Amino acid sequence: MTAAANEACFNRPDRFAIGWYWVVASLDLPRSGVARANVQGREVVAWRGADGVAHVVDAYCPHMGAHLGDGKVEGDGLRCFFHAWKFAGDGTLVDIPCMKKPVAARIRSWPTAERYGMVWVWTGESPEHDLPRVPEHAADDPGEWRVAGHFQKACHPNVMMINAIDAQHFNSVHAMPALLDMVPTVVSDRAIAFDNAARPSAETYFGRFLRRFYHGPLTYGLRYWFGQTGCVTLGPDFLHFHIVFALRMKEDGGSEGRTLLVTRKRSGPIGYLWSQVLLGLSWVVGAYFAKGDTRVFETIRFNFQTPIRADHAIVAFIQHYDAQPAALWKSWDPVTA
Ligand code: FES
Ligand SMILES: [Fe+2]
Repeated sequence: MTAAANEACFNRPDRFAIGWYWVVASLDLPRSGVARANVQGREVVAWRGADGVAHVVDAYCPHMGAHLGDGKVEGDGLRCFFHAWKFAGDGTLVDIPCMKKPVAARIRSWPTAERYGMVWVWTGESPEHDLPRVPEHAADDPGEWRVAGHFQKACHPNVMMINAIDAQHFNSVHAMPALLDMVPTVVSDRAIAFDNAARPSAETYFGRFLRRFYHGPLTYGLRYWFGQTGCVTLGPDFLHFHIVFALRMKEDGGSEGRTLLVTRKRSGPIGYLWSQVLLGLSWVVGAYFAKGDTRVFETIRFNFQTPIRADHAIVAFIQHYDAQPAALWKSWDPVTA
């Protein structure tokens, strides 16, 4: 059982919100493929059976501790390299070559799912929330996507995440001439949204230019899940771009992340081509976001001592994050109150 963590969790190296975290790109896990990953301090192995289903299990074999990343997939099971014990997708030991009947042993298997070209793992007993999904898309829309980036930063994932709702820095760092006012909406205990409520100014030339594309406020919104994955939505009223930044923490306290460009699934060859054009444009938009802050993330020692009114979205993010059920780094043991 998990209990709500009543201690601060934000920006901590020893704990994180229980949720879905990316493991490996689906393309890097072909049928019968095996991949290693360290997810929130835990060494895991992802593998895909001959049936095409992906699994994530603990990395070390329950026999003698060999790394299952050296193993090989056989049918719908994973066979350890060392003494060739074989495990089914749910972690059950199904074969020991030198025995007629295997002993009772199993490897820990974690809830696994795929979306937007990534394999995701739920860092707890059973999923208590859906996978991250572009909020504007229909629930049954698998989306068209491109895994566009793989990056590392010397900065905690939580701190990287709040950058996208840090209204002041859009003006100071990204030289954006319009002001943003990011209004929070709690979507669930694990997800929070922020949407800009400010209209472009009618007093500047640029503001008046922007007003041609926006009936109301300038569209810029964020949806966050588990404090380490976020989806940016932006663009003129008639065309929205969606970029998902999926992060997780590295052993050294920094971040490792993937950039996922997503658009609606459209039917027919024209629809497919249009989706590809939009994904290409999303890439340009995403590159704009990725630039400019790099040097801050290399040196920042996050210490939020003097929040002001303009920081209200960041305060809301931290409060929402700190209330989420948390697990300990490496063991994934739930933090109990
Ligand atoms: S260590 Fe895996 S089968 Fe022996
Ligand atoms: Fe930024």
